[in-house]
Amino acid sequence: MKTDFIDIRTDEKRALSEAKRLILSGEVVGIPTETVYGLAANALDSEAVKKIFVAKGRPQDNPLIVHISEFSQLSALVEEIPEKVSLMAKKFWPGPLTMIMKKSQVIPDAVSGGLDTVAVRMPKSEYARAIITGCGVPLAAPSANLSGSPSPTRAKYVLDDMDGRIPLIIDGGVCEVGVESTVISFVGEKPRLLRPGGITLEQIEKTIGEIDVDNAVLNRLEEGQTASSPGMKYKHYAPKADITVVKGSLEDFCEFVSRKGECFVLCFDGEEKYFSNALSYGRIDDGQSQAKRLFDALRELDEMGAEKVYARCPDLKGMGLAVYNRLIRSAGFDIVEVCNDKK
Ligand code: TXA
Ligand code: MG
Repeated sequence: MKTDFIDIRTDEKRALSEAKRLILSGEVVGIPTETVYGLAANALDSEAVKKIFVAKGRPQDNPLIVHISEFSQLSALVEEIPEKVSLMAKKFWPGPLTMIMKKSQVIPDAVSGGLDTVAVRMPKSEYARAIITGCGVPLAAPSANLSGSPSPTRAKYVLDDMDGRIPLIIDGGVCEVGVESTVISFVGEKPRLLRPGGITLEQIEKTIGEIDVDNAVLNRLEEGQTASSPGMKYKHYAPKADITVVKGSLEDFCEFVSRKGECFVLCFDGEEKYFSNALSYGRIDDGQSQAKRLFDALRELDEMGAEKVYARCPDLKGMGLAVYNRLIRSAGFDIVEVCNDKK
């Protein structure tokens, strides 16, 4: 299959009409959102949705997020809208927030991975919204990477993974947030954070009070444990390079790395000068800048031919939680703590 590539910033009319034509004829299109690029298909058409799983190489039991452009589209997709969902939607939609509810009959099993729930998000990206509105149907869309790879924040990375696998990629420039949406389940008694993202835990709790944080946000699932979010159990965000996350001060990190042989370092802005092969992924005290850079940096490490990488550990506050959640998965949970207290 030939993959067409249209820049929506310069060719909006053609981008929208081609996306609409292909999606409504049951095809999969790579689209920009403010978090990461998505692989979009008509969420109400199971045959179209199945093509997403094939293009991505994604396990069939890992459900997809359904994207809408108007709040009024939500009620048809779910059994009921919990009050806290309305509160959150009022505050954070459109935006990087996905909410899970009991699904209605219209959601095909292919979308929900056989679960009785559905994840819904209203993206903020004007391009994503124009595409959804133009199609007139909700769009199922996972991140536009091959299953297991870092999510793409630029159209060229979608092309790297999807060339020949989908008929069209819409280029909308660099994604503003850089990591995927925050996922919260509203199905149990208490809301539960399944994946940290663009909307922080602090922002959520200010709006609806305390919520549970799923064990899988910070930890590896043990053999036999069931995942609240099926995506948590799969290998994720992994570049070809082998990554180790190193907790500790800059000084201890430098000392630790100096004892290693040939390696690369993933560090914060301004720290590159301490290492021979270093790439930075944002400012040390700014989770937002780290989120925007992380997936790009992981792909750049591969382009640079890095084999062994030691990464500085982000602070877990604010967006840092989402950055840490992605980084430890990209490292396959290989985390070491260094502390050379010489006093
Ligand atoms: O920012 C985003 O959310 C991007 C853009 C494209 O919108 N999408 C995205 O989709 O990250 P995906 O498929 O890569 O990640 C969705 C996550 C997966 O971990 C999946 O298991 C979980 O959400 N999920 C989806 N539906 C669910 C459900 N009904 N119950 C529990 N987890 C669900
Ligand atoms: Mg993904």
